[in-house]
Amino acid sequence: MPAPDRAPCDVPVLSADAVRQLTTVFRDVGIDSPDRDARLLVAGLAGLDPAFVVVSPVPLGDDVRLRIADACRRRLDREPVARILGRRGFYGREFRVTPASLDPRPDTETVVEAALAIATREGWRDRPIRILDVGTGTGVILVTLLAELPLATGVGTDIVSAALEVAAENAARHGVETRASWQLARTFQGVQGPFDLVVSNPPYIPSRAIAELDPEVARFDPATALDGGEDGLSVYRELVAGICNLAPAGWLCLEVGAGQSDDVVKLAARARIEGARRPTIFRDLAGIERCVAIKTQLYPHLKKSLDHQGVCYKLLKCDRVTTAGKVPAEAPERPYPANCRDRIFADQLAVEGFLKGHLLRCARSLGTRNH
Ligand SMILES: C[S@@+](CC[C@H](N)C(=O)[O-])C[C@H]1O[C@@H](n2cnc3c(N)ncnc32)[C@H](O)[C@@H]1O
Repeated sequence: MPAPDRAPCDVPVLSADAVRQLTTVFRDVGIDSPDRDARLLVAGLAGLDPAFVVVSPVPLGDDVRLRIADACRRRLDREPVARILGRRGFYGREFRVTPASLDPRPDTETVVEAALAIATREGWRDRPIRILDVGTGTGVILVTLLAELPLATGVGTDIVSAALEVAAENAARHGVETRASWQLARTFQGVQGPFDLVVSNPPYIPSRAIAELDPEVARFDPATALDGGEDGLSVYRELVAGICNLAPAGWLCLEVGAGQSDDVVKLAARARIEGARRPTIFRDLAGIERCVAIKTQLYPHLKKSLDHQGVCYKLLKCDRVTTAGKVPAEAPERPYPANCRDRIFADQLAVEGFLKGHLLRCARSLGTRNH
């Protein structure tokens, strides 16, 4: 009697042959790392270490057999292994992964390495620094940094509330939940600084390029985690525009896509961030420039000018100053130098982003024209 024709995903016994069988079906549909994926799925679902060695075949229970078959079919449909198993290893720790968030990538460990190198250089390892992780997703960056820097506290933000729930769960899993808080926010909106370190792996794929990505990415990572707008740089623009307000004397550490580091440094320079003149670039294991680290302070001449006699700065906050430069009667008398408005206009040419907004509002409240 001929042997029954078993479906290629059916693995009745745990054996080297079983792993080879799955490897073959994965290879046949063009999966990149068929042997690794086969081993990770079988090990993950049979409760074994991925480095398992089978000396003699072991029969599998029906439930495990069905789960392996289901996982195999999902992988053939190009779902990534981490999504099938619902977990991903990152910087030596395991994180829960759900459809709400990006499946964290090994490349992102470069951001963690960069942040830790900066922490060492700045003497932050034994200080209670504050960290902000914009677009935290599963929380891998923030949770890892809090685990590595035991005195630090941090805030993780995201525009997806379901992602924040998973990040909070991951924080608890790694024992850093009392030092982490989570906030539904777009970039810096409603976020209270100051921070010593702002990290982010923002969405950076140009919108039109998403459909051309591998199916594992295009079909399974949420668009909110990928789509960086027309040129891929839209969230970077928001980050550099607000950073000096939120971290006036700290570091900004950004993951970038391949070939984007120069563009991101230029955006930071245009936002007059002093550190953009001397960015530190970190490469990933493939040698690709993966992380741009920039010290966050405004150009010194601009800052000095804004501090001009300590009075212009108050004007910049539009602190009770009304039209025609008059201080309202009920406000305390506050002298300011005659050339203060001129200085504001000189600097207006040099500033962008949030500062420009302040300056324009001040100029308006002083009743002068906007040149
Ligand atoms: C590329 S994923 C990174 C996730 C996680 N940090 C990691 O490295 O695996 C980008 C994340 O940013 C979130 N996001 C997108 N635009 C955002 C914005 N303007 N402000 C805050 N979060 C944003 C997405 O929902 C997504 O979770």
